[in-house]
Amino acid sequence: MQADLSGKVALITGSTKGIGREIALLFAENGADVALNARSEGPAAEIIRKIEILGRRAIFEPADIFEYAQVKGMSERVLQRMGQIDILVVSGGSSEEIAPGFFRDLDPESYVNFAKSQWISRLYCVRAVLDHMIERRIGKIVLLGTDAGRWPTPGESLPGGSGAALVMSTKVLAREFTRWQIRINTLSTTVTLDTPGLDMVLSASSASKVFKKALKRQPFPLKSADVAQATLFLASSASDAITGQTLSVNGGLCFPG
Ligand SMILES: NC(=O)c1ccc[n+]([C@@H]2O[C@H](COP(=O)([O-])OP(=O)(O)OC[C@H]3O[C@@H](n4cnc5c(N)ncnc54)[C@H](O)[C@@H]3O)[C@@H](O)[C@H]2O)c1
Repeated sequence: MQADLSGKVALITGSTKGIGREIALLFAENGADVALNARSEGPAAEIIRKIEILGRRAIFEPADIFEYAQVKGMSERVLQRMGQIDILVVSGGSSEEIAPGFFRDLDPESYVNFAKSQWISRLYCVRAVLDHMIERRIGKIVLLGTDAGRWPTPGESLPGGSGAALVMSTKVLAREFTRWQIRINTLSTTVTLDTPGLDMVLSASSASKVFKKALKRQPFPLKSADVAQATLFLASSASDAITGQTLSVNGGLCFPG
């Protein structure tokens, strides 16, 4: 799809690789200025170059989205450098240290990081931009989540529980935020080709067989570009009548109600 994001600034976390990177490039193609984020700069300079060639502004701001102080600092620096934040997309946060796996194989000390990965990190980012969005009575928020939060998947007890919490938080926040004209939705995805998240579950998860089987069963192979298209819809005026929803983009793998 095409959308007019000209004049908008989008902060996209976890955007130097994978789904976040694809979203950043697509948003810039559709007119947005973009603030990129990851824990470290990595390939950010190359993405910034690509965005600047499109005639848009792009910056990189580091932060670990598991740490609220860092997230707050990042959003303040983005505001200083870009002047505004109209769109927040929260992606990223998977890592080999918290690969999904069968419950009996998971270290209880890691539970809290699963909650941060799929849920709390999203809330940290929302909180960090909220006062700015309230002040301007404008805002589109898209949170990347997981279909494991909507469909019982062996090996996903922790990501699934955290993903389910994100679905409910999205509904509650939508009800709280309508008074300020802020829309918030979750985009729930599953095994996605060409992403670090998929590489990680195939290599590091004690339940990797589950994910290999899911890939075979997925009728329509899912790529990060497909997830980016749906994110563009939820960030654009085309979805102005939609808030508090969770949209599954999953290649037809399952049918969450
Ligand atoms: N890829 C999949 O198969 C899959 C499956 C289900 C759900 N998802 C959802 O999609 C999101 C994006 O997936 P992805 O495959 O692009 O991988 P990812 O979650 O690993 O995101 C990669 C990007 O996030 C950055 N990042 C990682 N940890 C971070 C942290 N703590 N703070 C800031 N940046 C961090 C990385 O540097 C990179 O730029 C996931 O977070 C998850 O919510 C993906």
